[in-house]
Amino acid sequence: MAKRIPVIAANWKMFKTKDEALEFIFAVNAAVPSRDEVESIICAPAILLNLLVKREGEHIRIGAQNMHYADEGAFTGENSPAQVKTAGAEYILIGHSERRSLFNETDKDVNLKMHAAFKYDLAPILCIGEQLDTREANKTKEVLDVQLDKAFEGVSKEQALKTIVAYEPVWAIGTGKTATPQMANDTIKDVRAKLSDLYGAEVAAQVRILYGGSVKPDNIESLLQESDIDGALIGGAALDHKNFLTFTKAAK
Ligand code: G3P
Repeated sequence: MAKRIPVIAANWKMFKTKDEALEFIFAVNAAVPSRDEVESIICAPAILLNLLVKREGEHIRIGAQNMHYADEGAFTGENSPAQVKTAGAEYILIGHSERRSLFNETDKDVNLKMHAAFKYDLAPILCIGEQLDTREANKTKEVLDVQLDKAFEGVSKEQALKTIVAYEPVWAIGTGKTATPQMANDTIKDVRAKLSDLYGAEVAAQVRILYGGSVKPDNIESLLQESDIDGALIGGAALDHKNFLTFTKAAK
């Protein structure tokens, strides 16, 4: 089985102006590893996508943080899959916990966005994760299995292979409370086992599964040393371009 190419993805959330975004991209463009070593992705605010893609370097890849699942329509303030694609994004975050909690995104919305992503040739970065009370009740696997079942409803093997999954325990996002490498790896093994149930072991072995939730320069290496962690989806720490380069080099 070919080794899974690691992924380092920054989720800028609602940070960076045009000038700050350009400063970041110019600083990392030529410095990230080649794409066949590490997939280095910036998930930027929609308003910056077109700007960044015009200046992306040979290896930096751009993703969007959200989109509507409809082809077009009267959805004030939303971005359609076609708008995201034609702005130059190659990836799309789907189901981020902030979309689920702050914007009432449901598992059904997530599944509709998965299908819209495939329709417009966007690679989904599917975010799943549990709340602290679920973790403390030892019900994490059950909760993640439901999220995966619903997200992948009607998704083919070929489409699943295009998908990156990001396991982000909600209680670790933005809190400084990183899951231990052991906990993260054990949970990601469970996610991979569920993908095996859905699509078979061969497909499950090829899908990249990332960890996200308070990843920092001082814990990235211990996380990436784990057998089943294929990279990281990073928020706050990846707003700094020096940290981003540290993360991509750690993934080589
Ligand atoms: O999508 C990644 C993000 O939710 C993690 O945020 O700040 O804990 O790295 P942070």
